[in-house]
Amino acid sequence: MSGFVEKPEPVQVPGLVHLHTGKVRELYRNEAGDLVMVASDRLSAYDWVLPTPIPDKGKVLTQLSLWWFDQLKDLIPNHVISTELPAGAPADWAGRTTICKRLDMVPVEAVARGYLTGSGLAEYDVSRTVCGLALPEGLSDGSELPAPIFTPATKAEVGEHDENVSYEEVARQVGADTAAQLRQSTLAVYSRARDIARERGIILADTKFEFGFDTSVEGEPVLVLADEVLTPDSSRFWPADQWQPGRAQPSYDKQFVRDWLTGSSGWDRTSEEPPPGLPDDVVEATRAKYIEAYELLTGTPWS
Ligand SMILES: Nc1ncnc2c1ncn2[C@@H]1O[C@H](COP(=O)(O)OP(=O)(O)O)[C@@H](O)[C@H]1O
Ligand SMILES: [Mg+2]
Repeated sequence: MSGFVEKPEPVQVPGLVHLHTGKVRELYRNEAGDLVMVASDRLSAYDWVLPTPIPDKGKVLTQLSLWWFDQLKDLIPNHVISTELPAGAPADWAGRTTICKRLDMVPVEAVARGYLTGSGLAEYDVSRTVCGLALPEGLSDGSELPAPIFTPATKAEVGEHDENVSYEEVARQVGADTAAQLRQSTLAVYSRARDIARERGIILADTKFEFGFDTSVEGEPVLVLADEVLTPDSSRFWPADQWQPGRAQPSYDKQFVRDWLTGSSGWDRTSEEPPPGLPDDVVEATRAKYIEAYELLTGTPWS
């Protein structure tokens, strides 16, 4: 079992057509035909969207993505058009709304990994590979890889689990040219971001990008960086001064939520039961982690 513990009702705004409810974002189309992306305070864990929001989380993710898009704009075009609030939108949309180019999304989670952990570690332990790529002996949880690798995954629906796939499988699905462009762009953006984060005391262990094609331009469709980028929801950020391979690393994300859900909450992940609401201290600690990541990376106080 998985999905929304409580299915959200999207806000209706005159002039905007609601297109889609994602795990975290609501998507609309405006009268100009552009995409209006509104990041909510929802949080997902273990394939569930939890019933308890984390105050300001959607704003932190939106502002951090905008900061990264700016850091990366000489490397790759992005989907951002503006952050203007649509007429008639609720005041609470300020800071969490991005007007974007509507792209033909490539249905691949473009993951880059510079360090071994999570599903990569699980595969490595069995076969010494990650997404079919051979890796050296002797790596453990948190080890830095000899070089960053592109480890794509299929994009799952809400409540489904992403699955790692080989590069060859991606090439079969989207074509060899697009697969090559995805890999090249993913590794280039990861490497730039890894270096920027490292200067600020943060290890960018891995991250997931989504790309789309802009077909509105003359000639060949252009590959554009879309969605959210390099946030605690799409990335693993580790404090560099506590990095110690051979154990799970502390991280700037929903670790408190995960620890609480699998620990003292009494919830059984493998049961059919939806997870419970979060207690205030877990909400507050999680909010503080998201804000800490924002402040460390951007070098700017949150408010
Ligand atoms: N520029 C874009 N054009 C079209 N779709 C986009 C664009 N940027 C992001 N998306 C899509 O918007 C949705 C973002 O909502 P989110 O809550 O993150 O969804 P998900 O549950 O799929 O992670 C995703 O489905 C993503 O693929
Ligand atoms: Mg998403």
